[in-house]
Amino acid sequence: MRIDIVTCVPSLLDSFFAHSILKRAQQGGFVEVVIHDIRDYSVNKHRTIDDYAFGGGAGMVLQIEPIARCIRKLQSERQYDEVIYLTPDGELMQQRMVNQLSLKGNLILLCGHYKGVDQRVRDLFVTKEVSIGDYVLSGGELAAAVLADAIIRLLPGVLNDETSALTDSFQDNLLAPPVYTRPADFEGNKVPEILMSGHEAKIESWRYEQSLRRTKERRPDLLE
Ligand code: ADE
Repeated sequence: MRIDIVTCVPSLLDSFFAHSILKRAQQGGFVEVVIHDIRDYSVNKHRTIDDYAFGGGAGMVLQIEPIARCIRKLQSERQYDEVIYLTPDGELMQQRMVNQLSLKGNLILLCGHYKGVDQRVRDLFVTKEVSIGDYVLSGGELAAAVLADAIIRLLPGVLNDETSALTDSFQDNLLAPPVYTRPADFEGNKVPEILMSGHEAKIESWRYEQSLRRTKERRPDLLE
């Protein structure tokens, strides 16, 4: 899979993809993440990429020309399955959506800023609009990082233990059960006995019950 991120603040994203699982995923050849600076595609010598909104009002709008040049260049080089615009008025990101996107080949993630992008970018180039939650961030970069992270960790081979993504919260509409590690007793606070019993089937059903209980308490909506 290849993920191209189109942004006017590339430095916000560079370090994010240079660490931990995301770094290993790229080094292992499971995914290629390429970050593009919209400013490099500006159509004037001042490298401007935004302008005042027609009709007035506060806030600048990202112009269509630099974004169109960037996306068209990418699309001339390879096939993309989706051009995703991160925006608070997009479809709410959920694990189901992430699972589906993890099966795609190549994705472009477009980050908005200021008042957003010219509507014609959305009309002409964007195939899917995604929100990571009902709050407004100062740009789409964090949202793109969240979406890319959630996708990349699902790619086969990326996690050490391939089954571990299957036991994540939300994978079966259930929250994950509690986990413990050493010491078995911290100042009298003991790890549940069953987890040290070595009885796999019993542990499995204990975990399932814990997941169910947690979900009922915290997110009953997931069980509806
Ligand atoms: N850009 C600003 N806020 C956002 C959000 N909640 N989700 C996706 N993109 C955004």
